[in-house]
Amino acid sequence: MNLTETLENLRVSYKKHTLDINDCHLDPHQQFNRWLEEAVKSECDEPNALILSTIKNNRPHARTVLLKGMIDNKFIFYTNYLSAKGLQIDDNPYVCLTFLWLPLQRQIRIEGRVSKVEGKISDDYFQKRPRDNQLGAIASPQSQKVKSREELERLFKETDSKFAQDENLIRPPHWGGYAVEANYFEFWQGRESRMHDRIIYEKNNDLWNRSRLAP
Ligand SMILES: Cc1cc2nc3c(=O)[nH]c(=O)nc-3n(C[C@H](O)[C@H](O)[C@H](O)COP(=O)(O)O)c2cc1C
Repeated sequence: MNLTETLENLRVSYKKHTLDINDCHLDPHQQFNRWLEEAVKSECDEPNALILSTIKNNRPHARTVLLKGMIDNKFIFYTNYLSAKGLQIDDNPYVCLTFLWLPLQRQIRIEGRVSKVEGKISDDYFQKRPRDNQLGAIASPQSQKVKSREELERLFKETDSKFAQDENLIRPPHWGGYAVEANYFEFWQGRESRMHDRIIYEKNNDLWNRSRLAP
């Protein structure tokens, strides 16, 4: 079998759960929390992983980041502010978040506007990270070209030596959190015969309207 045939033959029938609009919480954040808790309890690997999509110069970009908290109903992730995604966000603050929980046959799509969190929030979270992760955040010029793996390891070692006497590392200004305030949610539950459930929430004057979309 060639690769195309292999791909054509990959088929999963989604039968595990259903999603009725009347069972969806009136508040999409509560509905998100309910599904996230179920994903954490299930056998999903890294249930807090999400695809972050950004735009620059009318071109889309996407990569995975980890959801590290919710503050005032905003979705928090941490990264390098000077990375490609950081520069894309500087250009255009509208982003999409996609969670995929295959063991539950679920996907959530979220659209919203992103902004940097207060420095204190990033400082507090930075202090909770393992020292090696802190050193990596200080040392790595994320998204820039590096000559080799050796150069990367040299940067890490240099940073490690530079701060060897410091018991606590200070968060570098180029690293911190972003908060996404959502204005759109879609909860997708896989069903049989590709007749999936799709429930969306749209924000209208602080009120959330729920609707069903065709799969
Ligand atoms: C499971 C997983 C989790 C990740 N979590 C993060 C994260 O929380 N923050 C981050 O900056 N990069 C994270 N990454 C790496 C990013 O996907 C990406 O490679 C990096 O942020 C550079 O992206 P950019 O060049 O588009 O800015 C993660 C990757 C994977 C596969």
